[in-house]
Amino acid sequence: MSVRRFTSDSSSGTIEIGRQIVALLSPPRFLVLRGELGAGKTTLVKGIADALDAADPDEVTSPTFTLIHEYQGKLPAELGERPVVLYHLDLYRIENERQLETLGLEELAAEDAIVLVEWGEKFPSVLRRSGGEIQIEHAGGDARAITLTLPD
Ligand SMILES: Nc1ncnc2c1ncn2[C@@H]1O[C@H](COP(=O)(O)OP(=O)(O)OP(=O)(O)O)[C@@H](O)[C@H]1O
Ligand SMILES: [Mg+2]
Repeated sequence: MSVRRFTSDSSSGTIEIGRQIVALLSPPRFLVLRGELGAGKTTLVKGIADALDAADPDEVTSPTFTLIHEYQGKLPAELGERPVVLYHLDLYRIENERQLETLGLEELAAEDAIVLVEWGEKFPSVLRRSGGEIQIEHAGGDARAITLTLPD
C-alpha cells in the first residue's frame, strides 16, 4: 500500500488537493471516499472534476438524492490527455445490497473510469470492489486531514 497525506485548512484548499491528486489516480480506479457528514468528500471531488476538465467546481454537487453523477473528462496534458469518465456516487441513502444492485456498479468499472464512492464503506461488496480509499478527517475548525491509500 502507498499512503499519501495532505492537510487542508479551507474548502478551497481541499479543492486544490483534489486537483493535485488526479496525478495519482490513473484510471481504471475505484475508490471509497470515507469521512463523516460534512467532512469534505464532495468538496474534494470538485477539485478532481476540475483537473479532469470534467466539470467546474460549482457544477459538482452532492449525489445524495441522484445517487450517481457522471462527467466526461480527460487526463491533464502531462498525463496524456486520454478520455476519462468520472463517476461520483453517494450511497448514504442506499439501505441494502438489493437497492445497491439497481445501481449497476459493476458496469462502471470501465478502463477509462474513475469511480469515487461516498459512504461506500457501508457495503462489504463495495469495499471488495474498491482499489484504495481517500479518508477525510476533521482536524479542528476548518482544517482537514486527507489520506489517500492506494495499492502498490
Ligand atoms: N477544509 C475544508 N475542506 C472541505 N470542506 C470544508 C473545509 N472547511 C470547511 N468546509 C465546509 O464543510 C462542508 C463540506 O461539505 P461536503 O459536502 O464536501 O461534505 P461531505 O463529506 O461530502 O458530506 P456528506 O457526507 O454529507 O456528503 C462544506 O460546507 C465546506 O464549505
Ligand atoms: Mg458529499
